[in-house]
Amino acid sequence: MNEASARAYPNIALIKYWGKRDTALILPAAGSLSLTLDSYATTTTVRLDPDAASDRFTLNGVPGAATPTQRVTRFLDLVRELAGSTAPARVDSLSEIPTDAGLASSAAGFAALAVAAAGAYRLDLDDPALSRLARRGSGSAARSIIPGLAVWHAGDDAASYAEPVDGPAFAMIILTLDRSAKRVSSRDAMVRTAGTSPFYDGWVSSTAQTLEDALAACRANDFTALGLLTELHALRMHALIQSADPPIRYLKPASIAAFDRVEELRTAGLECYATADAGPNVVVIARPADADSVATELAALGETTVVGAGPGATLLPPGTA
Ligand code: PMV
Repeated sequence: MNEASARAYPNIALIKYWGKRDTALILPAAGSLSLTLDSYATTTTVRLDPDAASDRFTLNGVPGAATPTQRVTRFLDLVRELAGSTAPARVDSLSEIPTDAGLASSAAGFAALAVAAAGAYRLDLDDPALSRLARRGSGSAARSIIPGLAVWHAGDDAASYAEPVDGPAFAMIILTLDRSAKRVSSRDAMVRTAGTSPFYDGWVSSTAQTLEDALAACRANDFTALGLLTELHALRMHALIQSADPPIRYLKPASIAAFDRVEELRTAGLECYATADAGPNVVVIARPADADSVATELAALGETTVVGAGPGATLLPPGTA
């Protein structure tokens, strides 16, 4: 029986992905830059099951609901097409991301699934090909194939994959402020933003420049420049999202208070910068030596967890999942 297991970690973007130029192929309107984390792994085993009537999917030992199972099947269909196979599979996934931590689970989930499914269906794919494949499950999953800092290129299907980037060392402080599920998924919110915001074209064209500037900061090993661009780009993304019709607001008063506190800490000489994904929780970046002090300062606002740069998605030796 063909079987393979893989492990992958979530990533947090510094230069954000928001908007697709092709929703079927999941091609981003602009490139993005992220850090793959060293915590909250997803471990996924794919076993081919030629006698089964359909794919089966479990998450943390519980049979998946209809929608996630359909997403897994649609993804496996791509893999089967590449492999020239029609065999259904059993997919068992264990996620260490607490469901209410406010961290997206799809990036680690589809990166682990891409690597495990490629192994089980005997596809020999290099990292760019795995990144392109993971992208089809969830855009940001393209970046979780890569360890540490990763740039995900905009472009056509062949060119849109993530690659490693050298840059300054930093830690991330995840500040959990609100544990409720978001009301509008990033997938739907992106479509609404692209279709209705008068600022969308400006966002796409300015992001290309901001990404260039961030990559230059990485090349110069300049944490300060990278941090300033990170905070700028997060606030621009949330301004854009709020300008959709009807508007979408992910940030809450507690999120704004966290951005204010980060600015205060900076003014007081503790260098750190804030960002936030499609939700109210805030992630703060700081030099590794400052991370614990920043976490201590932010602990009054919410639960803090310090994380660092982690590995890319990897196939696990048989029998170790
Ligand atoms: O890949 P998705 O559909 O989960 O979208 C991710 C969008 C953001 O997290 C808000 C930004 C990003 O670049 O990760």
